[in-house]
Amino acid sequence: MPVLAANWKLHKTTAEAIAWVDAVQASPLLGRADVVVLPGFLQIPALSARIGHGPIALGSQDVFWEESGAFTGMVSAAQVREAGCRYALVAHSERRRCAGDDDRGAHARIRAALAQGLTPIYCIGEGLRERESGGFQRALKAQYDVALDGLSAEQAQRVIVAYEPVWAIGSGQPATPQQVGEVAAAIRAGVLARTGLREGMRILYGGSVQPQNIQGFLAQGTIDGFLVGGASLDPEEFLALLKAVVGGA
Ligand code: PGA
Repeated sequence: MPVLAANWKLHKTTAEAIAWVDAVQASPLLGRADVVVLPGFLQIPALSARIGHGPIALGSQDVFWEESGAFTGMVSAAQVREAGCRYALVAHSERRRCAGDDDRGAHARIRAALAQGLTPIYCIGEGLRERESGGFQRALKAQYDVALDGLSAEQAQRVIVAYEPVWAIGSGQPATPQQVGEVAAAIRAGVLARTGLREGMRILYGGSVQPQNIQGFLAQGTIDGFLVGGASLDPEEFLALLKAVVGGA
């Protein structure tokens, strides 16, 4: 099934989050894609209660790698799972920039998420300078090589990789479908070489995805879904994306 993940970042009060879920939960399109909502930590329990065992899944925007201890301000994989999450975003570029997340930390976070039965969504992406200098494939390879180091094929299969070029996030300037296709092929080859995983790894694209441009990526046929920030905040816009993803547009 395709994946459509809504990364709300630092947006929405609990009341706004519940209103969004109420608007989206009624859609008959649900159940035809893996719909994942990544709210703020504090909204997770209320949304979990509202969603129940329905078709929307919850994820956290981060997890720390330790389960407990003297780690002020951190949230563990066990805690977010207990609160109702089934997914965990790992090393989003905004966390790499604002909170110092790096590939080694991502590796530990992925392992912690997997150990708790969460599906990690591991974010990688090159900066503009790397893209323009042509060294971006090397930069991306370093990101997934470190983060997936030592994972078995079975573990790697449970990881979703989200390719999000830093220059495309929130800029209104998405990568081209061809650029995304090239990177997805390189990731699949790189992960095969590292873990022996032949097929089954799901790869998402993220970065200025909107109802107006999503068809181009779908037509390319090389990715398994999308991680969406800005266009996921409005339920109508999100449902337009979902309609496209499940083939209804
Ligand atoms: P955007 O964000 O869709 O607003 O570009 C994507 C993301 O950061 O996950």
